[in-house]
Amino acid sequence: MAEKNLINQTAIVTGANSGIGEGVAIALGEAGANVIVNYVSNADAANEVVNKIKSFGSTAIAIWADVSKEDQVISMFQQTVEQFATVDILVNNAGLQRDAKFHEMTLAQWQLVIDVNLTGQFLCAREAIREFLRRGIVPERSVACGKIICMSSVHEIIPWSGHANYATSKGGIKMLMQSMAQEYGREKIRVNSICPGAIKTPINKSAWETPEAYNSLMTLIPYDRIGVPEDIGKLAVFLASDDSDYITGASIFIDGGMTVFEGFATGG
Ligand code: BGC
Repeated sequence: MAEKNLINQTAIVTGANSGIGEGVAIALGEAGANVIVNYVSNADAANEVVNKIKSFGSTAIAIWADVSKEDQVISMFQQTVEQFATVDILVNNAGLQRDAKFHEMTLAQWQLVIDVNLTGQFLCAREAIREFLRRGIVPERSVACGKIICMSSVHEIIPWSGHANYATSKGGIKMLMQSMAQEYGREKIRVNSICPGAIKTPINKSAWETPEAYNSLMTLIPYDRIGVPEDIGKLAVFLASDDSDYITGASIFIDGGMTVFEGFATGG
C-alpha cells in the first residue's frame, strides 16, 4: 500500500478524467490527498476516477471547468476553497494536440493548443499562487507553502515536425515554470515540470495501437517499453510531497531514455 504522505492536503488535477491526469489523480488520492478531478468533457469518466479515489478512503470531487477560460478557472478554485478551505497542490495537466503540417496549420489549431496547454497552465497557476500566498505555510501539512507541477513533455526540448503548436506550448511551459519557481521560491512555493515521453494514453493512440506503430516507437526508446500513467503518478506524488522539498524549477524527464537520442547510438 502506498505511503499516505499527502494526508490532509488538497490537490487540483486538471484534465483528470483520462490519460496521465487520471493516473496522477489516482496516485495522489492513494497517497491520502483530497483530490479535485477537473474535466471538461465526459463527466462519467471523471466520476469513475472520483470513485476509485474514494475506494482508498480519500476524498474526491469532480469539477467541470475549461482551463483556458478565466472565469471557469476562478470558479473552480472558489468551489475548491469553499469545500476544502484551501489548495495545497496544483497539477497543471490538461493538454491536447491538434496536429498539422506547419504550412497547413490553421490559426484555430494553433490557438486552441496554446490556449489550453499554455494559457490554461498560466490561469490555474495564478489562482493557485494567489491561494498559497493568502493561506501561508501550514507546517503540520507541508514545509512548503504550495506545490505546482506542470505537465510538460519531452517536446519542451525535442522539436516536433507536424506538431509545431504542441512543441511551442511545451517550450513555453518550461519558461513559465522556471519563472514562477524563481519568483516565488522565497515564499516557499515549489514549481516543477514533469516531462513525459511516450505514455500509453488516448492522446498518442496512433503511436502504439498497431504492432508496426509500436515497433517504430520503440526505435526512439532505449528502455524498450512504452510508459504508463502509473509511472507519472508516482513521480507526481514525490514532487507534491516534502520528500522532494529541495527540488524547484526542475524539468524532470520520465521517458524511458527518449531524450538520450537513440538515433545517435549508431549514427553521428
Ligand atoms: C505527446 C505524445 C508523444 C510523446 C513522445 C507527448 O508529449 O503528447 O503524443 O507520443 O510526447 O513523442
